[in-house]
Amino acid sequence: MTTKEQVLLLLQKSGSTYISGQEMADSLFVTRASIWKAIKSLEKEGYDIEAITNKGYRLRIRNILPSEALLQNLIAEYSNADGLTIPSIPVKLFESVESTNDTARDFATQNPDSECIFIADTQTKGRGRRGRDFFSPSGTGLYMSFLLYPNTDITEAMKYTCMMAECVYQAILSVTNIETAIKWVNDIYYNDKKIAGILTEGISSIEDGSLQYVIIGVGINLFNPYEDFPSDIKKVAGSLISSSEESLLESTGLGYQELRNRLYAAIVYEFMKHYRYPSEYPFLAGYQNHSMLTGKYVKIVSYSKNPIPANRKYALVTGIDDDCRLNIQYEDGTSDSLFSGEVSVVKY
Ligand code: BTN
Repeated sequence: MTTKEQVLLLLQKSGSTYISGQEMADSLFVTRASIWKAIKSLEKEGYDIEAITNKGYRLRIRNILPSEALLQNLIAEYSNADGLTIPSIPVKLFESVESTNDTARDFATQNPDSECIFIADTQTKGRGRRGRDFFSPSGTGLYMSFLLYPNTDITEAMKYTCMMAECVYQAILSVTNIETAIKWVNDIYYNDKKIAGILTEGISSIEDGSLQYVIIGVGINLFNPYEDFPSDIKKVAGSLISSSEESLLESTGLGYQELRNRLYAAIVYEFMKHYRYPSEYPFLAGYQNHSMLTGKYVKIVSYSKNPIPANRKYALVTGIDDDCRLNIQYEDGTSDSLFSGEVSVVKY
């Protein structure tokens, strides 16, 4: 491999994290001048390389979406490895959409009863729960929505959020070996930062409450965004792979792009496996075991009985029940189960 090719590989492996000229020179046993020469010649070939004094270089990746065929092959690779046949589901890929959940909803209106998965490199109006925005920059995240037609009713829809959370946990573990944690109901945390969220939406019949369709949207911050997180989420938001996990790309032998493609495929595989064969692949025990809240004191930020009474603001989480409700014990000793809502961990 030429120095130029090796430099390209190092840049690809470090994703959105800067790598200094010295680090590259040290790891390739060449001079800094040859690194600089390699960078210049990569730029001439059209690579968009950012250089910042005291930080180093990073490659801005554009248009890195895989083809549908490549994704389907990867999904098949996972199911073959498990000796399982999962009926294939179409996957549609987009450079940019407002929100993949909205794309799924529009598709459902025009193509009734067609299940499909929607993936976008970036979302211009990504949505989170409770009317929040979901920051969805290009090149560094995964944004995908599953449009499905389960034969169930609206009260069951929440279980798909929990099923997806457990599947995202499993997919990340199998691709990267990283153990994340699930924060009830729909968040994935790593190193005390939120790295992923899930938004489940459904259309149901007013007459009998049956679900017409459900859309389960997943957003993951894979690498640190090129422009950093917006100030309102900077304290809580993190990414799965930041500078401290760079070596992970080394140890898995996966380049940035392949890692992202494998994660897309692993999430599709894990979710479709649990969704199609719920009795063979129950998700609940995993969801309960991987919950980061059990045993923690939390502040109840919101729940069904708003406003929250003064003596109901803090509680100890005692577990997650079989309906995915959060079991808690208030300070006066009384117990409760939250069906939905939001809590934050209190640091004593
Ligand atoms: C949350 O954290 O509150 C949920 C975030 C869900 C984000 C995903 S990204 C793909 C899909 N499209 C959206 O607009 N939202 C979900």
